[in-house]
Parts: sequence; C-alpha cells; structure tokens
Amino acid sequence: MSRIAYIDGVYQPMDLPGILVEDRGYQFADGVYEVCAIRNGKLLDETRHLDRLDYSLQALNIPMPMSRAALKQVMRETLRRNRVSDGILYMQVSRGVAPREHMYDADLKPVLVITARPIAAERRAQIMRKGISAISVPDQRWARCDIKSISLLPNVLARQSARNAKVQEAWQIDGQGMVTEGAATNAWIVDAKGVLRTRPADHEILNGIVRQVLLDCVAELGLKFAEKPFSLSEALAAKECFSTASTMSVFPVVKLDGQKIGSGKPGPVAKALSVAYDTVEQEVF
Ligand SMILES: Cc1ncc(COP(=O)(O)O)c(C=O)c1O
Repeated sequence: MSRIAYIDGVYQPMDLPGILVEDRGYQFADGVYEVCAIRNGKLLDETRHLDRLDYSLQALNIPMPMSRAALKQVMRETLRRNRVSDGILYMQVSRGVAPREHMYDADLKPVLVITARPIAAERRAQIMRKGISAISVPDQRWARCDIKSISLLPNVLARQSARNAKVQEAWQIDGQGMVTEGAATNAWIVDAKGVLRTRPADHEILNGIVRQVLLDCVAELGLKFAEKPFSLSEALAAKECFSTASTMSVFPVVKLDGQKIGSGKPGPVAKALSVAYDTVEQEVF
C-alpha cells in the first residue's frame, strides 16, 4: 500500500509527483514542522504540539493554515488512511508558493503537508534496554533554535556525523563548551552529584514536548533537579546521560565520544522517567 499524505487540501499517494517548485518551504526552508508520537492509534500530547506549532508560526509571521479543530480532523484522517497505530505523524507548514525572491507578501496561503509512518514499539523497548551511543559536535545552528523550523541542515550534518561514527545521536556543543541539545533530541544528565540537569528552554534549544512532560514528573518522583546548562566535561563525568524526543521518548546515552557513561548501562533515573512518561501518557488516553 502506498503511504497517503495530506498535501494542501488533498489526500494523495506519496509516490505521485506533487511538490510545487516555488513552495518557499522547498526553496528557502521557509516553514515549520511538528512530529507527534502515535501510540495505540492516538496522538500523544496533541495540545502541546499544536501550541508549539502556533508558537513557531507566530514567530515567523506565518498564518495557521486552518482552524485548530479542522487541523485535528486532518491529523486523525491521515492516521486513519495510513492505518498507523504506533509511529509518528509529521506535519509541515510552509509560508506558501510565490515567485522566488527572499521577501514575501503577507497574504501568501500557507501549504500544509501531513504524513504518518509506523515505528515498531519493540524498537523503543530495545533502546531502553541497551541505550544508545552519541558523539559531540560543534553547534552550528542559528540563534532561534526554539522555533521548530524546517531549516535543519546543521542538524542533518550532525546526525550524519553520528552515523559515520557508527553511533545514533550527536550532542551539539556551543562556543562555551556547553551542551545545547542533540541533533533531534533534548539532552539531560544526572551529574556527578546526582542532580538531574537539562538546559533551560532558551533560544538555543527546542522546548521538546517530552522534555515538558518529564519536567512535570520530576517533582513527583522526588528527583534532585536543576534546569541549568551543563558542559561536555560534566556530561562525560555524569552518572547518567540521556536524550528525549517524541520519536522514542527516553533514550539512555550509555557512551559519549567513545567513553562509557556511569556503569555503561541505562541508568535508574532514565528508566524511572521513561516509566513515568508512559504512565502519564496512558492516563491521557
Ligand atoms: C533539535 C531538537 N531538539 C529536541 C527535540 C525533541 O522534541 P520533542 O520532545 O518535541 O520531540 C527535537 C525533536 O525533533 C529536535 O529536533
């Protein structure tokens, strides 16, 4: 079965030609996106994702392509047509189609594209059992990483460096030697003193939805916590490192730059947060 995409008003097979050459998303990466997890046929944290979509669109002065109620309807219909019950929904809004020039008219009609694809639930379980390895790379991105822009070239290059190094993620390091975030994940450590730390949601990182959900769980779990940047050397000396993202929720990082982190196995805090995340999400259903 061909996957079905919602493209600017039409549900169509993804293998049909359909991209408009002068879509500003295509020519300038002038657009934003969201990735929502799908579990048991339901979209996780839909409201938070739609709020962040609003935030990104407003920051770039791109109008919402349709009302929130209509958008929810299209999201559900795309899931239904693709019969995805565990996986991800990808949603992209570009500024619209216009003859190629850098400036834009305020009345362009945004183009919405939505796709969905499965991810085996077993893959998540395997990551929690074994963890992943990561490398560090310089953070080469712009000054508004809080906007979920489709302009992802530095993230693409970072992830490819990880792949070339035969690891799964790249943690990006700013000019001061501090970890910003992964190529497509937020970064966390349990530092040498046992304090769970993640960088505050400033303009240097994306305020991840899993990050937001876990912050709500931290107090309940009675964890020592500080929303405070950490350096690469603190990460290397940490008891635990882990990444978070909607694709897989929690990914324990058991090796960083070839060095074992803590015991070299997924640690208790990452495990507890993964369980807490799954519990919260089940309550939402
Ligand atoms: C750069 C970056 N940081 C963090 C995240 C995690 O965000 P979320 O938890 O909303 O998936 C992502 C996810 O795509 C990302 O691309």
